[in-house]
Amino acid sequence: MRVRVLGSAAGGGFPQWNCHCPTCEAAREGKRAQPRTQSSLAVSDGEGPWFLVNASPDARQQLDTLAPAQVDGVRAPPVADVLLTDAEIDHTAGLLLLRESTKPVRVLGDPGVERALTDGYPLLPILERYSGVEWGTLKRGRSTPLEGSRLEVERFDTGGDSPRYLDGSDLELGASGYVFRDRASGGVATYAPGLARLDDNVLGRFAQSDLVLVDGTFWRDDELGRLGISGRTARDMGHVPLSAPGGTLAALASLERPRKALVHINNTNPILLEDSPEREAVLRAGVEVAYDGLEFEL
Ligand code: MLT
Ligand code: MN
Ligand code: ZN
Repeated sequence: MRVRVLGSAAGGGFPQWNCHCPTCEAAREGKRAQPRTQSSLAVSDGEGPWFLVNASPDARQQLDTLAPAQVDGVRAPPVADVLLTDAEIDHTAGLLLLRESTKPVRVLGDPGVERALTDGYPLLPILERYSGVEWGTLKRGRSTPLEGSRLEVERFDTGGDSPRYLDGSDLELGASGYVFRDRASGGVATYAPGLARLDDNVLGRFAQSDLVLVDGTFWRDDELGRLGISGRTARDMGHVPLSAPGGTLAALASLERPRKALVHINNTNPILLEDSPEREAVLRAGVEVAYDGLEFEL
């Protein structure tokens, strides 16, 4: 199985267009931090097509880094199905960029995501009028083969809140994680870019993986408040912060089997600074800080 991080930043990207926090300024200077595009992943069995996990607003440039498995004709998509972990704007706006597709775009995920993208932020009905769209529900806890490949995927709940465009609606939505298994190599990769709870189900899945790509949005729970950006905490936004106590870093440090890397990193997070003590703490815990283009083979 091949797993490629297409975008390693959270919503807004890094640097964010209107942000002058210390980390965004460092990325603009291009010295102590490397720019990053918004959260997205590609997975393949190494022979069949790539599958896109989350369609970010940066999908155009991200997809250009992938070669199609097969070219017969002028138009050949570099990815087959699109899997969604949630219905947030940073994970779904890129669906509109797939409208040039010559066949209906297949989108897979939680049925709540389908509802959100039909009623709240109607990307699916819009795409229907361009390329056409086919929705496929991935049932929680059930392994589903990905067509045209040796991969299977299983969805699990990672908790969290509904996108803000659903404020006032009766739809309650949490995020999903995905476990990918390669039937030939036996490799197991788990992707959880939005993690609101570190429960036994989540940690058990991580422990049985060869690779885990995990929500590294915020270092501190009050990160945005301290910068005067927002009164919302990491946990309010559906993200367990990295630092102790009860943070993601300690939980990841205790896992022996998987290779571990952080994704969906917010532009305010000091781990983005290559010479920061927070970056050093991450590395000391045996965890990597993912960057765009980072690829794993398992
Ligand atoms: C999130 O990951 O919590 C959301 O994408 C935040 C947002 O961009 O509104
Ligand atoms: Mn996000
Ligand atoms: Zn910033």
